[in-house]
Amino acid sequence: MFSRTRPLRKNESIRRLVKETHLSIDNLVYPLFIEEGNNIETEIPSMPGIKRFSLDTIAKELDEVVKLNIPAVLLFGIPSKKDEIGAETWNVDGIIQQTIKFIKTNYPSLYVITDVCFCEYTSHGHCGIIYNNDLDNDKSLVNLAKQVISHAKAGADMVAPSGMLDGMIKTIRTALDANEFYNIPIMSYAVKYASAFYGPFRDAANSVPSFGDRRTYQMDPANRIEALREAKIDEVEQADILMVKPALSYLDIIRDLKNNFNKPIACYNVSGEYAMIKAASEKGWIDEKRVMMESLLSMKRAGASIIITYFAKDAAKILQ
Ligand code: PBG
Repeated sequence: MFSRTRPLRKNESIRRLVKETHLSIDNLVYPLFIEEGNNIETEIPSMPGIKRFSLDTIAKELDEVVKLNIPAVLLFGIPSKKDEIGAETWNVDGIIQQTIKFIKTNYPSLYVITDVCFCEYTSHGHCGIIYNNDLDNDKSLVNLAKQVISHAKAGADMVAPSGMLDGMIKTIRTALDANEFYNIPIMSYAVKYASAFYGPFRDAANSVPSFGDRRTYQMDPANRIEALREAKIDEVEQADILMVKPALSYLDIIRDLKNNFNKPIACYNVSGEYAMIKAASEKGWIDEKRVMMESLLSMKRAGASIIITYFAKDAAKILQ
């Protein structure tokens, strides 16, 4: 005698009944790039279908996101001026602050998450203040608090610090609470690897480091135990959601976090992952829609209930 597994695959009805993982629009977050200026609608060459918008052109994109019932957007600002410390990140009239107000006024049901970082705002492209040719952790934390409070005051629903600074979650939670923003949750880029998969994003967001790389603050792709340590620290510091980034090469890490923490797990399906599927599809080498859905499903199966993806609109159309 042998065991048969094929009977439960016989037709679509039984496959539906035994399906273990369901991807839903509820899982999707759509990243948006907003550039300071007017009349901007710039295609990002390495990310077909993704554009940078200015505030005066972004409405039709937001209309579509809301119509597709995508619950949330993640905002990245591209300022017109950069400096050594990224002071524009806490300008009350900065591009992100204006965008938050615009969305909360015109699309009140859309949940607004802000990426909290400095790399798009510093002249050197690093995620904070530079001292002795390296990121100065503790000095950068002071400015991080300023940035997060200005996002909260503008009306952000959630903040997502992505700089991999030590103590960033504690600093942000303390600052939010001191300003009575008790109900703004923190989604921590808790486990963020120093990855080559961010390449297209750095073009999109103008955030390529002018010297060195991010390996003194982002994690070594070889490390798995360290991911648990990073996540533990952020849990203790009161992060509400733990994120793994990138997603596809790190599905094992997503599952590790899911098994070890009782907080919602997010993953970031990053620009390089998007670009690979788009490029292969343009060459006619893969079925784009099926590969996209299979990748997103694998992130859900690995344990992520929040999937940040440039495919959010395309996937939402299929999941309607
Ligand atoms: C940093 C940040 C990065 C991404 C999101 N936030 C880039 C980096 O660390 O270099 C990458 C996102 C992507 O590749 O899609 N603010």
